[in-house]
Formats: sequence, C-alpha cells, structure tokens
Amino acid sequence: MGYRTIVKDNDPFKTLHKKCRPVTEFNQKLWDLLDDMADTMYKADGVGLAAPQVGTLRRLFIIDVGEGLIEFINPEILQTSGEQDGSEGCLSFPGEYGMVKRPNYVKMRAQDRNGNFFEVEGEELFARAMCHENDHLDGIVFKDRVYRMLREDEL
Ligand code: NI
Repeated sequence: MGYRTIVKDNDPFKTLHKKCRPVTEFNQKLWDLLDDMADTMYKADGVGLAAPQVGTLRRLFIIDVGEGLIEFINPEILQTSGEQDGSEGCLSFPGEYGMVKRPNYVKMRAQDRNGNFFEVEGEELFARAMCHENDHLDGIVFKDRVYRMLREDEL
C-alpha cells in the first residue's frame, strides 16, 4: 500500500498542463506506480486517476467506475460516437464541478501492465472517464472543456 500526493492545479511546475511521454518500460517501478495510484484513487473516492496527477509525466491512467479496476498504458482513442452532457469533477480540483460535453461511446486501445495490447469500449460514465483521463495525458484538464461551472447549490 502506498499513497501518493495528488497534484492540484496550484502546483508551481504546472504538471497538470504538460504533455506526457509514452511508457517504455514495463517493470516493477511501473507496477508500484499503478498499485499506488489505485490506493490513492480509492482513498480519495475517485473513479479515475492519471499519472500526471501523482506527478509522473507518463501516458497511463486507471479507471474504476464500479465495474473493477482497469489500467490503461499508452492508451489511444480508436472510435467515438454520440454525445453526452453532464457534470464532471477531478481529484486535482477538489470541490469544483462543471458541465462538459463528451462522446457517449468510446473505444480505446491500450497496453496492460505487462505490455500486452487490449481494446475496451464503454458508454456513459465509463466513456466520460476514458475521455477525461486521456485528456490528462495531453495536459488538458476538465476545466479547459467546461462550458459552465456549477454553483454549490447545484451539486
Ligand atoms: Ni481529472
């Protein structure tokens, strides 16, 4: 078990706004990072966490929308369709929520922790989470895509 500090938007290094590099080594260091990220995400009650949010500028994230943990390494969006409109937040922006439009269906390809490629598709919350987390790898945060922030009485 290991918890990592979640990088917030006031981070002086602007970590959340930088583009991440691909993962090239599938080794113990990567597995420790993934395990720590899962502990950190569950402790914070999140449904997704990307590596830059724990200070590592590498292309990987994890998601658990209630159907089990999935680790995405070097992910790529293969296909999207439809549209959904809903509220979104981020562990790096505690207490802030806003309305973001996302595709309703997303198909991705990624590598698992051993480097094996897999494909996964999802709709609604899962699709939203894949888009949100994938954005983090390009230095894009949800507030860059929000068209309206929510007030406290709307949460
Ligand atoms: Ni986020």
